[in-house]
Amino acid sequence: MLDAAEVNLDSPESLADPTGYFAAAREHGDVQWSAHHRAWLVLSHAGVEAGFRDTSALSSDKTGSFQRAAQGRSEAFQRVAELLSGWMNFRDPPAHTRLREPVRSAFTPRAISGLAREVQAIVDGALDALDTSGADLSHDFARPIPALVIGALLGVSPQDRHRFYNWSHDLGQLVFSLNPSGSPEGPVSAAASEFIAFFGDLIERERATPTGSPLSGLVAAAGDLNPIELIGACTLLLFGGHETTTTLLVNALGILLTQPETAAWLRAHPGAMDTAVEEFMRVQGPARSLPRKVTVDHERGGQQLHRGQNAYLCIAAANHDPAVFTDPAGLELERAPNPHLGFGWGLHYCLGASLARLEAGIALRTLLERFPNMQALGEVPPPRASAMGYGRRPLRVRLA
Ligand code: HEM
Repeated sequence: MLDAAEVNLDSPESLADPTGYFAAAREHGDVQWSAHHRAWLVLSHAGVEAGFRDTSALSSDKTGSFQRAAQGRSEAFQRVAELLSGWMNFRDPPAHTRLREPVRSAFTPRAISGLAREVQAIVDGALDALDTSGADLSHDFARPIPALVIGALLGVSPQDRHRFYNWSHDLGQLVFSLNPSGSPEGPVSAAASEFIAFFGDLIERERATPTGSPLSGLVAAAGDLNPIELIGACTLLLFGGHETTTTLLVNALGILLTQPETAAWLRAHPGAMDTAVEEFMRVQGPARSLPRKVTVDHERGGQQLHRGQNAYLCIAAANHDPAVFTDPAGLELERAPNPHLGFGWGLHYCLGASLARLEAGIALRTLLERFPNMQALGEVPPPRASAMGYGRRPLRVRLA
């Protein structure tokens, strides 16, 4: 049995056998204190779902920490804090509601399904460019596609879209560098100024001549969002939709390369792709846990949580909870229903979920169809865990 204080979301064990690891951890209770993370961990499906719902006791708001980080820094750095305060995922209602509504109304299922042809063209283009004698599917396929799709989503011209690859990485530096306060100022401010200028121009162009992209819808629905909040929404879409979707593709491909029989089955049953994508989300979904701040003293899962403490909603544990999933360790490509929490739940439920599903389905189906002889070159490196997600890893393959 795991010692309660030892539960460690970054550990290789939690990744290699999430079902066994989290079952052992749950023996101490569904909610428990982790000395390693210095935070409460919520480990059951019911508990994580309740945690997502209970936004008044478990807050997403980070504006206070952004403002503290920006205190006494340059004006440019303060703009970064301002930009991130416009990210709805870092806010609670009522600010969250105001920031989410215009994006939600632009991201209709119709607007997203309207991108299918463009996504297919992007996937075909990425496949055309692969060296069939030896390619890294991580770098050459999983990485560029989501960035190019978000470029399409925002109506960015094809020649400008390549800039998105690195920008999402730079944005990551911004988000993580603001927390804690002692981060270097120069590169963060420079990157932020570039984003603000680029997206500011894009929005102005969209206002003058709408392209009909979902960004047109967002600009039209912007309501009382101020200019920096609208730019914030665009940068959030870029950040929220890039690394996550890349990781979903990498993890799904990692499974298909280590289990050629699963890849063969999926080739023979392309109609199962939608449920297969949900199952990849469940077993190795990109978001392993999400942080929250305790805002009021309260009881949760038999534990007393105190205001100011940190808590993690452990999606990876919830998605392997035998109370909800039969044979949680098994990969069942036609599992239905599949109430995984990989896109979150409730108020902050992922606004890009249908886009991520569309992209992953098209990318995996087309790759499998086009390269029936695809095989790994050497050992497939196992996934690398971090508390909240996954590290990068190469996936070397021969395609023909
Ligand atoms: C496989 C890919 C993806 C995964 C695993 C994922 C996961 C998530 C999760 C877990 C949340 C909830 C965050 C929270 O409760 O704190 C979320 C929120 C969000 N996601 Fe995604 N996401 C993915 C793709 C995308 C894409 C493609 C976009 C847009 C282009 C996107 C945009 C957003 C936005 C805007 C939010 C904030 C919603 C809110 O706070 O109200 N995501 N995502």
